[in-house]
Amino acid sequence: MSTERVRVELGARAYDVVVGPAALGELAALLAGRRRVAVVSQAVVAAHHAEPLRRAIDAAGARHETFLVGDGEEHKRLATVDDLARRLAQWGLRRDDAVVALGGGIVADVAGFTAATYHRGVDVVQAPTTLLAMVDASIGGKTGVNLPEGKNLVGAFHQPLAVLADPSTLATLPERELRCGLGEVAKYALLGDDVLAATVDREAEAIRGRDPATLAGVVVRCARIKARVVADDERELTGRRAVLNLGHTLGHALEMAAGHELAHGEAVAVGLVFAGHLACVLERVPPAVATRYEEVVARLGLPVRAPAGLRAADVAELMRRDKKSAGGLTFVLPGPDGVTRVDDPDPAAVSKALAVVGIEG
Ligand SMILES: NC(=O)c1ccc[n+]([C@@H]2O[C@H](COP(=O)([O-])OP(=O)(O)OC[C@H]3O[C@@H](n4cnc5c(N)ncnc54)[C@H](O)[C@@H]3O)[C@@H](O)[C@H]2O)c1
Repeated sequence: MSTERVRVELGARAYDVVVGPAALGELAALLAGRRRVAVVSQAVVAAHHAEPLRRAIDAAGARHETFLVGDGEEHKRLATVDDLARRLAQWGLRRDDAVVALGGGIVADVAGFTAATYHRGVDVVQAPTTLLAMVDASIGGKTGVNLPEGKNLVGAFHQPLAVLADPSTLATLPERELRCGLGEVAKYALLGDDVLAATVDREAEAIRGRDPATLAGVVVRCARIKARVVADDERELTGRRAVLNLGHTLGHALEMAAGHELAHGEAVAVGLVFAGHLACVLERVPPAVATRYEEVVARLGLPVRAPAGLRAADVAELMRRDKKSAGGLTFVLPGPDGVTRVDDPDPAAVSKALAVVGIEG
Protein backbone atom coordinates (compact mmCIF):
# COMPACT_ATOMS: atom_id res chain seq x y z
CA MET A 1 0.00 0.00 0.00
CA SER A 2 1.50 3.32 -0.98
CA THR A 3 1.37 6.54 0.98
CA GLU A 4 -0.73 9.29 -0.60
CA ARG A 5 -0.80 13.03 -0.02
CA VAL A 6 -3.59 15.56 -0.23
CA ARG A 7 -2.56 19.22 -0.26
CA VAL A 8 -4.60 21.71 1.74
CA GLU A 9 -3.99 24.84 -0.34
CA LEU A 10 -3.79 27.71 2.12
CA GLY A 11 -0.97 29.85 0.74
CA ALA A 12 1.78 30.27 3.31
CA ARG A 13 -0.09 27.94 5.68
CA ALA A 14 -0.55 25.13 3.11
CA TYR A 15 0.08 21.59 4.35
CA ASP A 16 -0.26 17.94 3.41
CA VAL A 17 -2.63 15.30 4.66
CA VAL A 18 -0.45 12.19 4.43
CA VAL A 19 -2.35 8.90 4.33
CA GLY A 20 -0.78 5.43 4.48
CA PRO A 21 1.44 3.09 6.46
CA ALA A 22 4.48 5.38 6.33
CA ALA A 23 2.56 8.51 7.39
CA LEU A 24 3.65 8.62 11.06
CA GLY A 25 7.30 8.16 10.04
CA GLU A 26 7.15 11.50 8.19
CA LEU A 27 7.29 13.18 11.56
CA ALA A 28 11.07 12.66 11.58
CA ALA A 29 11.63 14.95 8.60
CA LEU A 30 8.87 17.35 9.60
CA LEU A 31 10.28 18.01 13.07
CA ALA A 32 14.02 17.66 12.38
CA GLY A 33 15.97 20.24 14.36
CA ARG A 34 13.26 20.86 16.98
CA ARG A 35 14.36 20.85 20.59
CA ARG A 36 11.26 19.40 22.26
CA VAL A 37 8.10 17.72 21.01
CA ALA A 38 5.07 17.18 23.27
CA VAL A 39 2.88 14.23 22.26
CA VAL A 40 -0.68 14.82 23.49
CA SER A 41 -2.82 11.69 23.60
CA GLN A 42 -5.14 9.51 25.65
CA ALA A 43 -4.09 6.42 27.64
CA VAL A 44 -5.66 3.83 25.35
CA VAL A 45 -4.46 5.50 22.15
CA ALA A 46 -0.92 6.03 23.41
CA ALA A 47 -0.70 2.40 24.57
CA HIS A 48 -1.51 1.18 21.06
CA HIS A 49 0.01 3.78 18.77
CA ALA A 50 2.56 6.11 20.40
CA GLU A 51 5.62 3.95 19.76
CA PRO A 52 6.11 4.71 16.02
CA LEU A 53 5.67 8.42 16.81
CA ARG A 54 8.28 8.32 19.55
CA ARG A 55 10.72 6.57 17.21
CA ALA A 56 10.15 9.22 14.54
CA ILE A 57 10.72 12.02 17.07
CA ASP A 58 13.92 10.28 18.23
CA ALA A 59 15.00 10.21 14.58
CA ALA A 60 14.31 13.96 14.41
CA GLY A 61 16.77 14.40 17.29
CA ALA A 62 14.19 15.99 19.59
CA ARG A 63 13.32 15.22 23.20
CA HIS A 64 9.77 14.03 23.70
CA GLU A 65 7.27 13.46 26.46
CA THR A 66 3.75 12.08 26.28
CA PHE A 67 1.00 14.14 27.94
CA LEU A 68 -2.25 12.26 28.50
CA VAL A 69 -5.63 13.97 28.60
CA GLY A 70 -8.95 12.48 29.73
CA ASP A 71 -11.17 10.38 27.51
CA GLY A 72 -14.67 11.61 26.63
CA GLU A 73 -16.44 14.77 25.52
CA GLU A 74 -16.62 15.98 29.15
CA HIS A 75 -12.82 16.41 29.08
CA LYS A 76 -13.00 18.75 26.09
CA ARG A 77 -13.12 21.81 28.30
CA LEU A 78 -11.01 24.75 29.43
CA ALA A 79 -9.89 22.99 32.63
CA THR A 80 -8.15 20.36 30.48
CA VAL A 81 -6.43 23.05 28.40
CA ASP A 82 -5.36 24.84 31.59
CA ASP A 83 -3.92 21.64 33.05
CA LEU A 84 -2.20 20.64 29.80
CA ALA A 85 -0.68 24.09 29.23
CA ARG A 86 0.70 24.09 32.78
CA ARG A 87 2.27 20.66 32.28
CA LEU A 88 3.81 21.84 28.99
CA ALA A 89 5.22 24.92 30.74
CA GLN A 90 6.63 22.84 33.61
CA TRP A 91 8.32 20.55 31.07
CA GLY A 92 9.81 23.61 29.39
CA LEU A 93 8.05 23.61 26.02
CA ARG A 94 8.99 26.78 24.15
CA ARG A 95 7.46 28.70 21.30
CA ASP A 96 9.74 27.14 18.66
CA ASP A 97 9.01 23.60 19.89
CA ALA A 98 6.08 21.52 18.68
CA VAL A 99 3.01 19.56 19.75
CA VAL A 100 1.77 16.32 18.17
CA ALA A 101 -1.90 15.41 18.65
CA LEU A 102 -2.26 11.61 18.63
CA GLY A 103 -5.88 10.53 18.93
CA GLY A 104 -9.43 11.22 17.85
CA GLY A 105 -11.32 14.48 17.52
CA ILE A 106 -11.18 15.22 21.27
CA VAL A 107 -7.38 15.11 21.28
CA ALA A 108 -7.28 17.04 17.99
CA ASP A 109 -9.45 19.80 19.46
CA VAL A 110 -7.81 19.98 22.90
CA ALA A 111 -4.20 19.69 21.69
CA GLY A 112 -4.93 21.95 18.70
CA PHE A 113 -6.49 24.68 20.86
CA THR A 114 -3.73 24.43 23.46
CA ALA A 115 -1.14 24.73 20.67
CA ALA A 116 -3.04 27.71 19.21
CA THR A 117 -2.85 29.61 22.48
CA TYR A 118 0.25 28.36 24.31
CA HIS A 119 2.97 31.02 23.85
CA ARG A 120 0.43 32.62 21.47
CA GLY A 121 0.81 29.68 19.12
CA VAL A 122 3.19 26.74 18.76
CA ASP A 123 3.32 24.36 15.80
CA VAL A 124 1.05 21.34 15.90
CA VAL A 125 1.04 18.14 13.86
CA GLN A 126 -2.21 16.20 13.79
CA ALA A 127 -1.87 12.41 13.94
CA PRO A 128 -5.50 11.23 13.86
CA THR A 129 -6.36 7.70 15.04
CA THR A 130 -10.15 7.66 14.58
CA LEU A 131 -11.88 7.57 11.21
CA LEU A 132 -13.78 10.72 12.16
CA ALA A 133 -10.59 12.61 12.97
CA MET A 134 -8.88 11.36 9.77
CA VAL A 135 -11.66 12.56 7.48
CA ASP A 136 -12.84 15.58 9.43
CA ALA A 137 -11.59 16.86 12.81
CA SER A 138 -7.84 16.91 12.08
CA ILE A 139 -8.15 18.78 8.77
CA GLY A 140 -8.99 22.45 8.49
CA GLY A 141 -7.53 24.07 11.57
CA LYS A 142 -10.69 24.42 13.64
CA THR A 143 -9.80 23.75 17.27
CA GLY A 144 -11.71 24.35 20.47
CA VAL A 145 -13.39 23.20 23.62
CA ASN A 146 -16.89 23.13 25.08
CA LEU A 147 -18.48 25.34 27.72
CA PRO A 148 -21.41 24.27 29.90
CA GLU A 149 -23.38 26.70 27.69
CA GLY A 150 -22.62 24.86 24.46
CA LYS A 151 -20.27 22.79 22.31
CA ASN A 152 -17.13 24.29 20.76
CA LEU A 153 -17.92 27.76 22.09
CA VAL A 154 -14.28 28.63 22.78
CA GLY A 155 -11.77 27.97 20.05
CA ALA A 156 -9.34 29.20 17.45
CA PHE A 157 -8.30 28.55 13.89
CA HIS A 158 -4.83 26.99 14.01
CA GLN A 159 -3.72 25.11 10.91
CA PRO A 160 -1.41 22.14 11.56
CA LEU A 161 2.03 21.66 9.98
CA ALA A 162 0.70 18.39 8.57
CA VAL A 163 -1.90 15.70 9.13
CA LEU A 164 -0.40 12.21 9.34
CA ALA A 165 -2.99 9.41 9.08
CA ASP A 166 -2.12 5.72 9.17
CA PRO A 167 -5.38 3.77 8.58
CA SER A 168 -3.91 0.63 10.19
CA THR A 169 -4.32 2.44 13.55
CA LEU A 170 -8.08 2.05 13.03
CA ALA A 171 -7.76 -1.71 13.72
CA THR A 172 -8.00 -1.03 17.48
CA LEU A 173 -10.90 1.43 17.27
CA PRO A 174 -14.14 0.37 19.05
CA GLU A 175 -16.94 -0.47 16.59
CA ARG A 176 -19.14 2.43 17.71
CA GLU A 177 -16.29 4.87 17.02
CA LEU A 178 -15.81 3.42 13.54
CA ARG A 179 -19.51 4.08 12.88
CA CYS A 180 -19.01 7.71 13.93
CA GLY A 181 -16.55 8.11 11.08
CA LEU A 182 -18.69 6.15 8.62
CA GLY A 183 -21.46 8.74 9.02
CA GLU A 184 -19.03 11.38 7.75
CA VAL A 185 -17.86 9.08 4.94
CA ALA A 186 -21.49 8.74 3.81
CA LYS A 187 -21.76 12.53 3.88
CA TYR A 188 -18.70 13.00 1.67
CA ALA A 189 -19.94 10.34 -0.75
CA LEU A 190 -23.22 12.26 -1.05
CA LEU A 191 -21.50 15.63 -1.45
CA GLY A 192 -20.97 14.70 -5.08
CA ASP A 193 -17.86 12.52 -5.08
CA ASP A 194 -18.94 9.83 -7.54
CA VAL A 195 -15.68 7.88 -7.12
CA LEU A 196 -16.18 7.69 -3.37
CA ALA A 197 -19.85 6.80 -3.83
CA ALA A 198 -18.84 4.00 -6.23
CA THR A 199 -16.27 2.76 -3.69
CA VAL A 200 -19.01 2.63 -1.06
CA ASP A 201 -21.19 0.66 -3.51
CA ARG A 202 -18.45 -1.83 -4.40
CA GLU A 203 -16.44 -2.12 -1.22
CA ALA A 204 -18.77 -1.49 1.69
CA GLU A 205 -17.80 -4.85 3.22
CA ALA A 206 -14.07 -4.05 3.11
CA ILE A 207 -14.73 -0.59 4.57
CA ARG A 208 -16.79 -1.99 7.43
CA GLY A 209 -14.19 -4.75 7.88
CA ARG A 210 -11.45 -2.07 8.20
CA ASP A 211 -9.29 -3.27 5.35
CA PRO A 212 -6.42 -0.73 5.64
CA ALA A 213 -5.90 -0.32 1.88
CA THR A 214 -9.61 0.28 1.26
CA LEU A 215 -9.83 2.65 4.23
CA ALA A 216 -6.76 4.53 2.98
CA GLY A 217 -8.49 5.10 -0.36
CA VAL A 218 -11.63 6.29 1.41
CA VAL A 219 -9.71 8.63 3.74
CA VAL A 220 -7.89 10.17 0.76
CA ARG A 221 -11.16 10.86 -1.11
CA CYS A 222 -12.78 12.37 1.99
CA ALA A 223 -9.68 14.42 2.83
CA ARG A 224 -9.67 15.82 -0.72
CA ILE A 225 -13.20 17.13 -0.33
CA LYS A 226 -12.53 18.60 3.10
CA ALA A 227 -9.25 20.13 1.87
CA ARG A 228 -10.99 21.77 -1.09
CA VAL A 229 -13.77 23.21 1.05
CA VAL A 230 -11.31 24.49 3.68
CA ALA A 231 -9.13 26.10 1.00
CA ASP A 232 -12.23 27.87 -0.38
CA ASP A 233 -13.45 29.10 2.99
CA GLU A 234 -10.76 28.76 5.65
CA ARG A 235 -12.58 30.75 8.33
CA GLU A 236 -16.19 29.94 7.51
CA LEU A 237 -16.83 33.38 6.09
CA THR A 238 -18.27 32.69 2.65
CA GLY A 239 -20.72 29.96 3.60
CA ARG A 240 -18.90 27.47 1.35
CA ARG A 241 -17.76 25.46 4.37
CA ALA A 242 -21.40 25.07 5.38
CA VAL A 243 -21.86 22.24 2.86
CA LEU A 244 -19.93 20.08 5.32
CA ASN A 245 -22.99 20.29 7.55
CA LEU A 246 -25.03 18.09 5.21
CA GLY A 247 -27.07 15.80 7.49
CA HIS A 248 -25.93 17.60 10.62
CA THR A 249 -28.93 19.83 11.49
CA LEU A 250 -31.11 16.82 12.26
CA GLY A 251 -28.01 14.82 13.28
CA HIS A 252 -27.14 17.20 16.12
CA ALA A 253 -30.79 17.37 17.26
CA LEU A 254 -31.03 13.57 17.31
CA GLU A 255 -27.84 13.28 19.34
CA MET A 256 -29.36 15.60 21.92
CA ALA A 257 -32.84 14.04 21.83
CA ALA A 258 -31.73 10.39 21.87
CA GLY A 259 -28.83 10.85 24.29
CA HIS A 260 -26.21 8.14 24.04
CA GLU A 261 -28.53 5.74 22.22
CA LEU A 262 -27.23 7.09 18.91
CA ALA A 263 -23.54 7.50 18.08
CA HIS A 264 -22.68 10.76 16.30
CA GLY A 265 -22.24 8.97 12.96
CA GLU A 266 -25.56 7.19 13.32
CA ALA A 267 -27.33 10.48 14.04
CA VAL A 268 -25.67 12.04 10.99
CA ALA A 269 -26.73 9.00 8.93
CA VAL A 270 -30.40 9.54 9.79
CA GLY A 271 -29.85 13.26 9.17
CA LEU A 272 -28.57 12.48 5.67
CA VAL A 273 -31.57 10.32 4.85
CA PHE A 274 -33.84 13.09 6.14
CA ALA A 275 -31.98 15.69 4.03
CA GLY A 276 -32.52 13.59 0.91
CA HIS A 277 -36.23 13.27 1.61
CA LEU A 278 -36.69 16.91 2.58
CA ALA A 279 -35.02 18.01 -0.66
CA CYS A 280 -37.35 15.68 -2.53
CA VAL A 281 -40.50 16.94 -0.74
CA LEU A 282 -39.39 20.50 -1.55
CA GLU A 283 -39.04 19.40 -5.19
CA ARG A 284 -35.37 20.40 -5.28
CA VAL A 285 -34.39 16.90 -6.43
CA PRO A 286 -36.20 13.90 -7.97
CA PRO A 287 -37.19 10.95 -5.70
CA ALA A 288 -34.21 8.95 -7.02
CA VAL A 289 -31.87 11.24 -5.06
CA ALA A 290 -33.66 10.49 -1.76
CA THR A 291 -33.45 6.79 -2.59
CA ARG A 292 -29.73 7.12 -3.29
CA TYR A 293 -29.17 8.87 0.06
CA GLU A 294 -30.83 5.92 1.84
CA GLU A 295 -28.83 3.43 -0.20
CA VAL A 296 -25.41 4.92 0.62
CA VAL A 297 -26.23 5.16 4.34
CA ALA A 298 -27.59 1.59 4.45
CA ARG A 299 -24.59 0.14 2.59
CA LEU A 300 -22.30 1.46 5.32
CA GLY A 301 -24.43 -0.37 7.89
CA LEU A 302 -25.81 2.84 9.38
CA PRO A 303 -29.43 3.44 10.43
CA VAL A 304 -31.87 5.03 7.97
CA ARG A 305 -34.60 5.69 10.57
CA ALA A 306 -34.57 7.51 13.93
CA PRO A 307 -35.06 5.53 17.14
CA ALA A 308 -38.73 5.10 18.08
CA GLY A 309 -40.47 7.51 20.41
CA LEU A 310 -39.09 10.90 19.35
CA ARG A 311 -41.62 13.71 18.95
CA ALA A 312 -41.39 15.93 15.87
CA ALA A 313 -42.11 19.11 17.86
CA ASP A 314 -39.23 18.40 20.28
CA VAL A 315 -36.82 17.57 17.46
CA ALA A 316 -37.80 20.71 15.50
CA GLU A 317 -37.18 22.82 18.62
CA LEU A 318 -33.72 21.29 19.03
CA MET A 319 -32.96 21.97 15.36
CA ARG A 320 -34.00 25.59 15.80
CA ARG A 321 -31.48 25.91 18.62
CA ASP A 322 -28.67 24.64 16.35
CA LYS A 323 -25.84 27.19 16.70
CA LYS A 324 -25.42 27.34 12.94
CA SER A 325 -29.03 28.36 12.32
CA ALA A 326 -29.94 32.03 12.37
CA GLY A 327 -32.90 31.60 14.69
CA GLY A 328 -35.13 29.83 12.18
CA LEU A 329 -34.61 26.40 10.67
CA THR A 330 -31.53 26.01 8.48
CA PHE A 331 -30.62 22.95 6.47
CA VAL A 332 -27.99 21.95 3.96
CA LEU A 333 -29.76 20.13 1.14
CA PRO A 334 -29.14 18.74 -2.33
CA GLY A 335 -30.72 20.72 -5.14
CA PRO A 336 -30.38 21.70 -8.78
CA ASP A 337 -27.11 23.57 -8.05
CA GLY A 338 -25.63 20.85 -5.87
CA VAL A 339 -25.67 20.90 -2.08
CA THR A 340 -26.54 24.34 -0.69
CA ARG A 341 -27.88 26.00 2.44
CA VAL A 342 -31.66 26.36 2.69
CA ASP A 343 -33.22 28.69 5.26
CA ASP A 344 -36.70 28.28 6.71
CA PRO A 345 -38.26 25.73 4.35
CA ASP A 346 -42.03 25.11 4.48
CA PRO A 347 -42.73 23.58 7.95
CA ALA A 348 -45.17 21.12 6.40
CA ALA A 349 -42.37 19.78 4.20
CA VAL A 350 -40.11 19.45 7.25
CA SER A 351 -42.83 17.50 9.11
CA LYS A 352 -43.36 15.24 6.13
CA ALA A 353 -39.64 14.44 5.80
CA LEU A 354 -39.32 13.91 9.58
CA ALA A 355 -42.20 11.42 9.35
CA VAL A 356 -40.33 9.49 6.63
CA VAL A 357 -37.42 8.90 9.03
CA GLY A 358 -39.84 7.85 11.78
CA ILE A 359 -40.28 11.09 13.73
CA GLU A 360 -43.97 11.99 13.99
CA GLY A 361 -46.45 13.86 16.14
N1 LIG B 1 -12.28 20.53 14.89
C1 LIG B 1 -13.06 20.05 13.97
O1 LIG B 1 -13.06 20.48 12.82
C2 LIG B 1 -13.95 18.90 14.33
C3 LIG B 1 -14.69 18.25 13.31
C4 LIG B 1 -15.47 17.16 13.67
C5 LIG B 1 -15.55 16.74 15.00
N2 LIG B 1 -14.83 17.39 15.95
C6 LIG B 1 -14.87 16.96 17.35
O2 LIG B 1 -14.35 15.64 17.45
C7 LIG B 1 -14.84 15.04 18.63
C8 LIG B 1 -15.19 13.60 18.35
O3 LIG B 1 -14.05 12.94 17.86
P1 LIG B 1 -13.98 11.35 17.74
O4 LIG B 1 -15.24 10.85 17.16
O5 LIG B 1 -12.71 11.02 17.09
O6 LIG B 1 -14.02 10.87 19.27
P2 LIG B 1 -12.90 10.74 20.41
O7 LIG B 1 -11.78 11.65 20.18
O8 LIG B 1 -13.62 10.80 21.70
O9 LIG B 1 -12.37 9.24 20.19
C9 LIG B 1 -13.26 8.18 20.38
C10 LIG B 1 -12.74 7.13 21.36
O10 LIG B 1 -11.84 6.27 20.68
C11 LIG B 1 -10.61 6.19 21.37
N3 LIG B 1 -9.60 6.00 20.33
C12 LIG B 1 -9.13 6.91 19.45
N4 LIG B 1 -8.35 6.33 18.55
C13 LIG B 1 -8.29 5.02 18.88
C14 LIG B 1 -7.67 3.90 18.29
N5 LIG B 1 -7.00 3.97 17.15
N6 LIG B 1 -7.82 2.69 18.90
C15 LIG B 1 -8.57 2.58 20.03
N7 LIG B 1 -9.22 3.60 20.59
C16 LIG B 1 -9.09 4.81 20.02
C17 LIG B 1 -10.52 7.46 22.17
O11 LIG B 1 -9.67 7.29 23.28
C18 LIG B 1 -11.97 7.66 22.55
O12 LIG B 1 -12.30 6.85 23.66
C19 LIG B 1 -16.02 15.88 19.08
O13 LIG B 1 -15.68 16.61 20.23
C20 LIG B 1 -16.25 16.83 17.91
O14 LIG B 1 -16.77 18.07 18.33
C21 LIG B 1 -14.03 18.47 15.64
